[in-house]
Amino acid sequence: MATLFKDVYIADGSRTKAERVHLLVSKGRIAQIIDASQTPPAADKIISGRGHMAVIPGFVNAHTHAAMILLRGLGEEAPLMEWLQNKIWPVEDKLTPEYIYWGTLSAMLEMLATGTTCFADMYFEMERVAEAVLGAGMKAALCRGITAGAPGKIERSLSNNLDLAKNYHGREGLITVQLGPHAPYTVPMDYMRSITDAAKTNGLGVHFHFLETKGELDNLGMSPTDYLKESGLLNTPYTVLAHAVWLDPKTELPDNVSLVHNPCSNLKLGSGIMPLTEWLERGAVVALGTDGASSNNRLDMWEEMRTASLLHKGATMNPVCVSALDVLRMATYEGARAFGFAQKGMIQEGWFADLVLVNLDKPHYIGVNEENLAAYLVYAGSSADVLGTMINGRWIYRNGEYPTLDAEEIMIKAREARDAITR
Ligand code: NI
Repeated sequence: MATLFKDVYIADGSRTKAERVHLLVSKGRIAQIIDASQTPPAADKIISGRGHMAVIPGFVNAHTHAAMILLRGLGEEAPLMEWLQNKIWPVEDKLTPEYIYWGTLSAMLEMLATGTTCFADMYFEMERVAEAVLGAGMKAALCRGITAGAPGKIERSLSNNLDLAKNYHGREGLITVQLGPHAPYTVPMDYMRSITDAAKTNGLGVHFHFLETKGELDNLGMSPTDYLKESGLLNTPYTVLAHAVWLDPKTELPDNVSLVHNPCSNLKLGSGIMPLTEWLERGAVVALGTDGASSNNRLDMWEEMRTASLLHKGATMNPVCVSALDVLRMATYEGARAFGFAQKGMIQEGWFADLVLVNLDKPHYIGVNEENLAAYLVYAGSSADVLGTMINGRWIYRNGEYPTLDAEEIMIKAREARDAITR
């Protein structure tokens, strides 16, 4: 089945100017893009934009813990370590595979309604997360969060993570799997090396929390450069470092290492401000993520784009840095490539039709044109403008409905899970 977006604007992180086009989606891909002045191609379904709709790439939320929506609102306004140890970890102990399944689905409802097509998730009971993802037809980069604890816990978690990779990596083109050592303060160095060795042996990427707080840097016991070398993180097939708030932007990073900026979570937990402008000047791959909903508290990439762009302008007193185009690229293409999804995150013929349909027929878009669309989206737009979210050419969210999900049941089950773990 072919869908035609007739007379719509397209924008992505590679276009300095938006274009007004007819865009044809067929067999899950962007099949054709032609100028809106030409005769539109034939299609089974036609969405008539009349110049009042935009199509942009689906967002890739490059670092989150989806099921943590069940913990939203617990332990507000506390520093990271206090928050984790007193408020989060005790409640997480009560999570069952079923609670995580329904919590993840509920997070997916939020993400889909705000234009996210893919999310990078680090948590546990990831088989259930994978089933939620496949059932919905969403895309995800999944890893099992590996932490030390009782004897044998790390070994079991690693073997569980490797099983996840064996069973789900590449499934239906929707899932990639990484290994997920949690952080330097939860995984001893010896284990870091065995995890990165396992990543090399199995051809897998690694997703890791690194230097989120100043305290983490102070307690690292060595320089970040030495840590990255000694842990083997620089020699994996690829490594994604979430947060990196306290990583010096002069640090040499090889091409296989990318960073994820989580501005709202870092601000809310008072963790500091990542030196994003310097990383971008150096040409580093920096993606954008929300982190879990218990430290953000939204799973909304529009909010993340706007915050990232404004935050660094203010912090560096430079209104030119971290442009609308920069954050749009970070929120889409950079996240996709960081986590091993090819041909995703740009509006290009032949690429996957992972798209967001945006309503420009609203007062705050008056004055929008080819030159300024990206800036309108980032500075004036919001997730309330999302009309639909398409993945592989199929609507997964459209006008408030979820064709592949039972939203009502998901919310009932997620509420029950929340009640059970906070009882
Ligand atoms: Ni995190």
